[in-house]
Amino acid sequence: MVDNTHQDIDPATGTATTGHEWDGIKELNTPLPKWWLYILYATMIWSVGYWILYPAIPLPGGHTRGMLGWSARGAVTADLQDLQGQRSEMVAKLNGSTLQQIAADPKLAEFARAYGRSAFYVNCAPCHGANGQGSRGYPNLTGDRWLWGGKLEQISQTITHGARSGDPDGHEGNMPAFGKDGILTKEQIDQVANFVFSLSHPTNEDVSAGKKIFADNCSPCHGDNAKGNPDVGAPNLTTKIWLYGGDKATIIETLTGGRGGHMPAWGSKLDPATIKSLTVFVHSLGGGQ
Ligand code: HEC
Ligand code: HEC
Repeated sequence: MVDNTHQDIDPATGTATTGHEWDGIKELNTPLPKWWLYILYATMIWSVGYWILYPAIPLPGGHTRGMLGWSARGAVTADLQDLQGQRSEMVAKLNGSTLQQIAADPKLAEFARAYGRSAFYVNCAPCHGANGQGSRGYPNLTGDRWLWGGKLEQISQTITHGARSGDPDGHEGNMPAFGKDGILTKEQIDQVANFVFSLSHPTNEDVSAGKKIFADNCSPCHGDNAKGNPDVGAPNLTTKIWLYGGDKATIIETLTGGRGGHMPAWGSKLDPATIKSLTVFVHSLGGGQ
Protein backbone atom coordinates (compact mmCIF):
# COMPACT_ATOMS: atom_id res chain seq x y z
CA MET A 1 0.00 0.00 0.00
CA VAL A 2 1.21 3.45 -0.80
CA ASP A 3 1.67 5.83 2.04
CA ASN A 4 0.10 8.95 0.57
CA THR A 5 0.93 11.10 3.56
CA HIS A 6 4.60 10.98 2.65
CA GLN A 7 4.09 11.31 -1.08
CA ASP A 8 7.36 11.80 -2.79
CA ILE A 9 7.40 12.72 -6.48
CA ASP A 10 10.26 11.49 -8.64
CA PRO A 11 11.57 14.59 -10.40
CA ALA A 12 12.73 12.77 -13.54
CA THR A 13 9.37 11.11 -14.43
CA GLY A 14 6.90 13.10 -12.38
CA THR A 15 5.57 9.79 -10.98
CA ALA A 16 4.91 9.25 -7.27
CA THR A 17 7.24 6.82 -5.52
CA THR A 18 6.20 4.12 -3.06
CA GLY A 19 8.56 5.52 -0.44
CA HIS A 20 10.83 2.47 -0.70
CA GLU A 21 14.43 3.30 -1.26
CA TRP A 22 17.58 1.17 -1.69
CA ASP A 23 20.94 2.82 -1.90
CA GLY A 24 19.38 6.02 -3.26
CA ILE A 25 17.25 4.19 -5.84
CA LYS A 26 13.54 4.86 -5.34
CA GLU A 27 10.69 2.59 -6.43
CA LEU A 28 8.15 4.31 -8.68
CA ASN A 29 4.50 3.71 -7.92
CA THR A 30 3.27 2.65 -11.37
CA PRO A 31 -0.19 1.03 -11.16
CA LEU A 32 -1.12 -2.00 -13.29
CA PRO A 33 -2.62 -0.91 -16.61
CA LYS A 34 -6.42 -0.80 -16.54
CA TRP A 35 -6.86 -3.14 -19.52
CA TRP A 36 -4.75 -5.74 -17.74
CA LEU A 37 -6.81 -5.53 -14.60
CA TYR A 38 -10.11 -5.79 -16.46
CA ILE A 39 -8.92 -8.94 -18.22
CA LEU A 40 -7.92 -10.39 -14.86
CA TYR A 41 -11.37 -9.63 -13.37
CA ALA A 42 -13.08 -11.05 -16.44
CA THR A 43 -11.16 -14.33 -16.18
CA MET A 44 -12.08 -14.57 -12.48
CA ILE A 45 -15.77 -14.20 -13.28
CA TRP A 46 -15.38 -16.67 -16.16
CA SER A 47 -13.75 -19.24 -13.89
CA VAL A 48 -16.61 -19.06 -11.39
CA GLY A 49 -19.08 -19.67 -14.21
CA TYR A 50 -16.93 -22.54 -15.44
CA TRP A 51 -16.84 -24.17 -11.99
CA ILE A 52 -20.60 -24.05 -11.83
CA LEU A 53 -21.28 -25.36 -15.34
CA TYR A 54 -18.49 -27.90 -15.89
CA PRO A 55 -16.84 -30.65 -13.82
CA ALA A 56 -14.18 -28.78 -11.86
CA ILE A 57 -13.43 -29.24 -8.19
CA PRO A 58 -11.88 -32.52 -6.99
CA LEU A 59 -13.63 -34.10 -4.03
CA PRO A 60 -12.83 -37.26 -2.11
CA GLY A 61 -14.10 -40.04 -4.39
CA GLY A 62 -14.94 -37.88 -7.39
CA HIS A 63 -15.42 -34.29 -8.45
CA THR A 64 -18.19 -31.73 -8.90
CA ARG A 65 -20.18 -32.66 -12.00
CA GLY A 66 -21.20 -29.23 -13.24
CA MET A 67 -24.70 -28.16 -14.18
CA LEU A 68 -24.32 -28.98 -17.88
CA GLY A 69 -23.62 -32.65 -17.17
CA TRP A 70 -20.72 -32.59 -19.65
CA SER A 71 -17.97 -35.24 -19.45
CA ALA A 72 -14.99 -36.05 -21.63
CA ARG A 73 -16.20 -39.61 -22.01
CA GLY A 74 -19.67 -38.41 -22.95
CA ALA A 75 -18.14 -36.22 -25.64
CA VAL A 76 -16.19 -39.16 -27.09
CA THR A 77 -19.30 -41.35 -27.06
CA ALA A 78 -21.26 -38.66 -28.87
CA ASP A 79 -18.49 -38.28 -31.46
CA LEU A 80 -18.39 -42.04 -31.97
CA GLN A 81 -22.14 -42.22 -32.37
CA ASP A 82 -21.91 -39.48 -34.91
CA LEU A 83 -19.20 -41.34 -36.81
CA GLN A 84 -21.10 -44.62 -36.60
CA GLY A 85 -24.16 -42.85 -37.96
CA GLN A 86 -22.19 -41.53 -40.91
CA ARG A 87 -20.51 -44.86 -41.39
CA SER A 88 -23.65 -46.98 -41.29
CA GLU A 89 -25.17 -44.63 -43.83
CA MET A 90 -22.18 -45.24 -46.13
CA VAL A 91 -22.20 -48.98 -45.42
CA ALA A 92 -25.90 -49.11 -46.32
CA LYS A 93 -25.03 -47.29 -49.55
CA LEU A 94 -22.29 -49.87 -50.26
CA ASN A 95 -24.74 -52.69 -49.69
CA GLY A 96 -27.22 -51.16 -52.10
CA SER A 97 -24.73 -50.46 -54.90
CA THR A 98 -23.05 -52.63 -57.51
CA LEU A 99 -19.26 -52.58 -57.81
CA GLN A 100 -19.58 -50.40 -60.93
CA GLN A 101 -21.82 -47.93 -59.12
CA ILE A 102 -19.36 -47.71 -56.23
CA ALA A 103 -16.43 -47.15 -58.58
CA ALA A 104 -18.36 -44.44 -60.44
CA ASP A 105 -19.32 -42.48 -57.30
CA PRO A 106 -16.18 -40.62 -56.15
CA LYS A 107 -17.35 -40.14 -52.54
CA LEU A 108 -18.53 -43.72 -52.12
CA ALA A 109 -15.41 -45.07 -53.83
CA GLU A 110 -13.21 -43.07 -51.50
CA PHE A 111 -15.05 -44.43 -48.48
CA ALA A 112 -14.83 -47.97 -49.89
CA ARG A 113 -11.07 -47.66 -50.42
CA ALA A 114 -10.52 -46.43 -46.85
CA TYR A 115 -12.82 -49.11 -45.43
CA GLY A 116 -11.18 -51.73 -47.64
CA ARG A 117 -7.69 -50.64 -46.65
CA SER A 118 -8.30 -51.21 -42.96
CA ALA A 119 -9.93 -54.58 -43.64
CA PHE A 120 -6.94 -55.43 -45.83
CA TYR A 121 -4.45 -54.70 -43.04
CA VAL A 122 -6.32 -57.01 -40.70
CA ASN A 123 -7.16 -59.93 -42.99
CA CYS A 124 -4.94 -59.90 -46.04
CA ALA A 125 -1.63 -58.23 -45.18
CA PRO A 126 -0.22 -61.34 -43.43
CA CYS A 127 -0.09 -63.09 -46.82
CA HIS A 128 -0.15 -60.29 -49.41
CA GLY A 129 2.03 -57.76 -47.55
CA ALA A 130 0.97 -54.46 -45.99
CA ASN A 131 0.86 -52.73 -49.38
CA GLY A 132 -0.34 -55.72 -51.38
CA GLN A 133 3.14 -56.20 -52.77
CA GLY A 134 3.04 -59.97 -52.16
CA SER A 135 5.91 -62.39 -51.68
CA ARG A 136 6.92 -65.79 -53.04
CA GLY A 137 3.75 -67.80 -53.55
CA TYR A 138 1.52 -64.87 -52.56
CA PRO A 139 0.64 -62.77 -55.54
CA ASN A 140 1.50 -59.10 -55.87
CA LEU A 141 -1.83 -57.28 -56.11
CA THR A 142 -0.37 -53.96 -57.25
CA GLY A 143 0.71 -54.89 -60.77
CA ASP A 144 -1.10 -55.68 -63.96
CA ARG A 145 -0.39 -59.39 -63.87
CA TRP A 146 -3.31 -61.41 -62.62
CA LEU A 147 -3.78 -65.11 -62.06
CA TRP A 148 -7.55 -64.93 -61.89
CA GLY A 149 -8.21 -61.59 -63.54
CA GLY A 150 -8.11 -57.94 -62.48
CA LYS A 151 -11.64 -56.79 -63.36
CA LEU A 152 -13.84 -55.80 -60.41
CA GLU A 153 -16.05 -58.90 -60.77
CA GLN A 154 -13.05 -61.21 -61.08
CA ILE A 155 -11.35 -59.75 -57.99
CA SER A 156 -14.61 -60.00 -56.07
CA GLN A 157 -15.06 -63.63 -57.14
CA THR A 158 -11.53 -64.53 -55.97
CA ILE A 159 -11.94 -62.79 -52.63
CA THR A 160 -15.39 -64.27 -51.97
CA HIS A 161 -14.66 -67.88 -52.95
CA GLY A 162 -10.86 -68.15 -52.86
CA ALA A 163 -8.64 -70.48 -54.84
CA ARG A 164 -8.28 -74.18 -53.97
CA SER A 165 -10.03 -73.18 -50.77
CA GLY A 166 -12.56 -75.99 -50.52
CA ASP A 167 -15.37 -73.55 -51.41
CA PRO A 168 -17.40 -75.27 -54.17
CA ASP A 169 -17.53 -71.97 -56.12
CA GLY A 170 -13.82 -71.26 -55.62
CA HIS A 171 -11.14 -71.44 -58.32
CA GLU A 172 -9.76 -74.93 -58.92
CA GLY A 173 -7.06 -76.52 -61.03
CA ASN A 174 -3.36 -76.82 -60.45
CA MET A 175 -0.22 -76.31 -62.39
CA PRO A 176 0.51 -80.00 -63.16
CA ALA A 177 3.61 -81.72 -61.79
CA PHE A 178 5.14 -82.56 -65.16
CA GLY A 179 8.26 -84.11 -63.65
CA LYS A 180 6.91 -85.96 -60.63
CA ASP A 181 3.98 -87.35 -62.58
CA GLY A 182 6.24 -88.49 -65.42
CA ILE A 183 4.52 -86.41 -68.10
CA LEU A 184 7.80 -84.92 -69.31
CA THR A 185 11.37 -86.14 -69.04
CA LYS A 186 14.07 -84.18 -67.29
CA GLU A 187 15.49 -83.16 -70.64
CA GLN A 188 12.12 -81.96 -71.91
CA ILE A 189 11.60 -79.98 -68.70
CA ASP A 190 14.98 -78.37 -69.20
CA GLN A 191 14.08 -77.47 -72.80
CA VAL A 192 10.69 -76.00 -71.99
CA ALA A 193 12.19 -74.11 -69.03
CA ASN A 194 14.69 -72.55 -71.43
CA PHE A 195 11.84 -71.51 -73.68
CA VAL A 196 9.83 -70.03 -70.79
CA PHE A 197 12.91 -68.15 -69.55
CA SER A 198 13.47 -66.74 -73.06
CA LEU A 199 9.98 -65.20 -73.03
CA SER A 200 11.10 -62.58 -70.51
CA HIS A 201 14.84 -62.72 -71.35
CA PRO A 202 15.19 -62.63 -75.17
CA THR A 203 18.05 -64.81 -76.37
CA ASN A 204 19.71 -65.97 -79.59
CA GLU A 205 19.87 -69.54 -78.30
CA ASP A 206 17.76 -72.09 -80.12
CA VAL A 207 14.67 -72.71 -77.95
CA SER A 208 12.55 -74.31 -80.66
CA ALA A 209 12.49 -77.73 -78.93
CA GLY A 210 11.06 -76.10 -75.81
CA LYS A 211 8.65 -74.06 -77.88
CA LYS A 212 7.23 -77.25 -79.38
CA ILE A 213 6.85 -78.86 -75.93
CA PHE A 214 5.12 -75.69 -74.75
CA ALA A 215 2.65 -75.75 -77.64
CA ASP A 216 1.81 -79.38 -76.90
CA ASN A 217 1.64 -79.28 -73.10
CA CYS A 218 1.32 -75.77 -71.77
CA SER A 219 -0.61 -73.61 -74.19
CA PRO A 220 -3.97 -75.21 -73.32
CA CYS A 221 -3.71 -73.35 -69.99
CA HIS A 222 -1.14 -70.61 -70.49
CA GLY A 223 -2.29 -69.73 -74.02
CA ASP A 224 -0.59 -69.99 -77.41
CA ASN A 225 1.37 -66.82 -76.76
CA ALA A 226 2.01 -67.74 -73.07
CA LYS A 227 0.10 -64.65 -71.93
CA GLY A 228 -1.95 -66.67 -69.46
CA ASN A 229 -5.63 -67.39 -68.96
CA PRO A 230 -7.57 -66.09 -65.96
CA ASP A 231 -10.25 -68.75 -66.40
CA VAL A 232 -7.83 -71.41 -65.18
CA GLY A 233 -5.53 -69.19 -63.07
CA ALA A 234 -2.58 -69.72 -65.40
CA PRO A 235 -0.27 -66.71 -65.16
CA ASN A 236 1.23 -64.71 -67.99
CA LEU A 237 4.76 -66.09 -68.44
CA THR A 238 6.06 -63.24 -70.61
CA THR A 239 6.48 -60.56 -67.92
CA LYS A 240 9.20 -60.09 -65.32
CA ILE A 241 6.70 -60.49 -62.46
CA TRP A 242 6.70 -63.98 -60.98
CA LEU A 243 4.65 -65.73 -58.36
CA TYR A 244 7.24 -68.36 -57.46
CA GLY A 245 10.31 -67.08 -59.32
CA GLY A 246 11.53 -66.60 -62.87
CA ASP A 247 15.07 -67.93 -62.62
CA LYS A 248 15.68 -71.22 -64.43
CA ALA A 249 16.07 -73.28 -61.27
CA THR A 250 12.70 -72.12 -59.92
CA ILE A 251 10.97 -72.64 -63.27
CA ILE A 252 12.33 -76.21 -63.33
CA GLU A 253 11.14 -76.69 -59.73
CA THR A 254 7.64 -75.44 -60.75
CA LEU A 255 7.54 -77.78 -63.75
CA THR A 256 8.79 -80.76 -61.76
CA GLY A 257 6.61 -80.53 -58.67
CA GLY A 258 3.63 -78.49 -59.90
CA ARG A 259 2.01 -75.60 -58.06
CA GLY A 260 -1.31 -74.68 -56.52
CA GLY A 261 -1.51 -71.78 -54.08
CA HIS A 262 -4.28 -71.61 -51.49
CA MET A 263 -6.27 -68.40 -51.21
CA PRO A 264 -8.93 -68.62 -48.48
CA ALA A 265 -12.59 -67.90 -49.25
CA TRP A 266 -13.77 -64.80 -47.41
CA GLY A 267 -17.45 -64.89 -48.33
CA SER A 268 -18.34 -66.74 -45.15
CA LYS A 269 -16.11 -64.62 -42.90
CA LEU A 270 -16.63 -61.04 -44.03
CA ASP A 271 -19.86 -59.16 -44.72
CA PRO A 272 -20.75 -58.08 -48.28
CA ALA A 273 -19.95 -54.38 -47.70
CA THR A 274 -16.44 -55.30 -46.52
CA ILE A 275 -15.86 -57.59 -49.51
CA LYS A 276 -17.03 -54.87 -51.90
CA SER A 277 -14.70 -52.40 -50.19
CA LEU A 278 -11.79 -54.85 -50.38
CA THR A 279 -12.51 -55.37 -54.07
CA VAL A 280 -12.49 -51.65 -54.81
CA PHE A 281 -9.37 -51.21 -52.67
CA VAL A 282 -7.44 -54.05 -54.39
CA HIS A 283 -8.60 -52.80 -57.79
CA SER A 284 -7.21 -49.36 -56.93
CA LEU A 285 -3.78 -50.68 -55.96
CA GLY A 286 -2.50 -50.16 -59.47
CA GLY A 287 -3.33 -53.25 -61.47
CA GLY A 288 -7.12 -52.93 -61.76
CA GLN A 289 -8.46 -53.64 -65.24
C1 HEC B 1 -3.35 -67.44 -46.13
C2 HEC B 1 -2.80 -66.49 -47.07
C3 HEC B 1 -3.75 -65.53 -47.75
C4 HEC B 1 -4.59 -64.61 -47.18
C5 HEC B 1 -4.81 -64.37 -45.69
C6 HEC B 1 -5.19 -63.89 -48.25
N1 HEC B 1 -4.75 -64.37 -49.44
FE1 HEC B 1 -5.28 -63.65 -51.27
N2 HEC B 1 -4.17 -65.12 -52.14
C7 HEC B 1 -3.37 -66.01 -51.47
C8 HEC B 1 -2.74 -66.88 -52.43
C9 HEC B 1 -1.75 -68.01 -52.12
C10 HEC B 1 -3.19 -66.48 -53.69
C11 HEC B 1 -2.82 -67.08 -55.03
C12 HEC B 1 -3.70 -68.22 -55.35
C13 HEC B 1 -3.20 -68.93 -56.57
O1 HEC B 1 -2.00 -69.26 -56.61
O2 HEC B 1 -4.01 -69.16 -57.46
C14 HEC B 1 -4.08 -65.35 -53.48
C15 HEC B 1 -4.74 -64.67 -54.48
C16 HEC B 1 -5.47 -63.51 -54.29
C17 HEC B 1 -6.06 -62.73 -55.36
C18 HEC B 1 -5.98 -63.05 -56.83
C19 HEC B 1 -4.73 -62.45 -57.39
C20 HEC B 1 -4.59 -62.70 -58.86
O3 HEC B 1 -3.47 -62.52 -59.35
O4 HEC B 1 -5.58 -63.04 -59.52
C21 HEC B 1 -6.69 -61.67 -54.77
C22 HEC B 1 -7.43 -60.55 -55.48
C23 HEC B 1 -6.51 -61.81 -53.35
N3 HEC B 1 -5.77 -62.92 -53.08
C24 HEC B 1 -7.01 -60.92 -52.42
C25 HEC B 1 -6.98 -61.17 -51.05
C26 HEC B 1 -7.68 -60.37 -50.09
C27 HEC B 1 -8.49 -59.13 -50.40
C28 HEC B 1 -7.45 -60.93 -48.88
C29 HEC B 1 -7.99 -60.50 -47.53
C30 HEC B 1 -9.42 -60.52 -47.37
C31 HEC B 1 -6.58 -62.07 -49.08
N4 HEC B 1 -6.33 -62.19 -50.41
C32 HEC B 1 -6.09 -62.87 -48.07
C33 HEC B 1 -3.18 -66.11 -50.13
C34 HEC B 1 -3.87 -65.37 -49.18
C1 HEC C 1 -3.83 -77.38 -66.35
C2 HEC C 1 -3.38 -76.05 -66.64
C3 HEC C 1 -1.89 -75.83 -66.76
C4 HEC C 1 -1.01 -76.42 -67.62
C5 HEC C 1 -1.29 -77.51 -68.64
C6 HEC C 1 0.27 -75.80 -67.37
N1 HEC C 1 0.17 -74.86 -66.40
FE1 HEC C 1 1.67 -73.68 -65.68
N2 HEC C 1 0.43 -72.98 -64.29
C7 HEC C 1 -0.92 -73.25 -64.17
C8 HEC C 1 -1.45 -72.60 -63.03
C9 HEC C 1 -2.89 -72.67 -62.56
C10 HEC C 1 -0.39 -71.91 -62.44
C11 HEC C 1 -0.45 -71.04 -61.17
C12 HEC C 1 -0.26 -71.93 -59.95
C13 HEC C 1 -0.56 -71.17 -58.69
O1 HEC C 1 -1.24 -70.15 -58.76
O2 HEC C 1 -0.08 -71.58 -57.62
C14 HEC C 1 0.78 -72.16 -63.26
C15 HEC C 1 2.04 -71.65 -62.97
C16 HEC C 1 3.11 -71.81 -63.81
C17 HEC C 1 4.40 -71.22 -63.58
C18 HEC C 1 4.78 -70.36 -62.38
C19 HEC C 1 4.79 -68.91 -62.74
C20 HEC C 1 5.26 -68.00 -61.66
O3 HEC C 1 4.86 -66.84 -61.71
O4 HEC C 1 6.03 -68.40 -60.77
C21 HEC C 1 5.19 -71.58 -64.61
C22 HEC C 1 6.65 -71.23 -64.84
C23 HEC C 1 4.41 -72.43 -65.47
N3 HEC C 1 3.14 -72.53 -64.96
C24 HEC C 1 4.86 -73.00 -66.64
C25 HEC C 1 4.18 -73.99 -67.31
C26 HEC C 1 4.72 -74.76 -68.38
C27 HEC C 1 6.09 -74.57 -68.97
C28 HEC C 1 3.77 -75.65 -68.74
C29 HEC C 1 3.87 -76.74 -69.76
C30 HEC C 1 4.95 -77.70 -69.56
C31 HEC C 1 2.61 -75.41 -67.92
N4 HEC C 1 2.89 -74.39 -67.08
C32 HEC C 1 1.43 -76.09 -68.05
C33 HEC C 1 -1.66 -74.05 -65.01
C34 HEC C 1 -1.14 -74.86 -65.99
